[in-house]
Amino acid sequence: MSVGALLLPMSATGFEAESVHQEHCVHCHARVTGGEGDVLYRGTRGLVRDSKQLRARIDHCQRGASLNWGDVELEAMRAYLNARYYAFPADS
Ligand code: HEC
Repeated sequence: MSVGALLLPMSATGFEAESVHQEHCVHCHARVTGGEGDVLYRGTRGLVRDSKQLRARIDHCQRGASLNWGDVELEAMRAYLNARYYAFPADS
């Protein structure tokens, strides 16, 4: 019965960007903005203008939260936030 599980790529890392984001990121962003946790991502502050900056910002925040992420987690979160909010073209 476990053969099927081996074929699921996501289970290799066990990293679920959406739930991790919900658990570790939203509460602080909501506090910062005094509202919804995702207001920060609307690009109005101009801090994040491309894929590289998005990744750098995520790295900054995950360090602040002592999550000790590597490339796999950083990239998974970047892809998640990019797909959901930013829609930057792929890294050049
Ligand atoms: C302790 C508070 C805190 C936590 C926890 C936190 N952040 Fe942040 N984050 C901030 C603050 C503050 C800013 C805005 C920085 C600024 O305006 O200079 C920010 C900004 C960002 C931005 C840039 C938003 C934009 O478009 O300008 C991204 C992306 C981001 N955070 C990702 C994350 C992710 C992913 C996590 C969870 C791993 C996370 N943050 C956890 C405080 C936090």
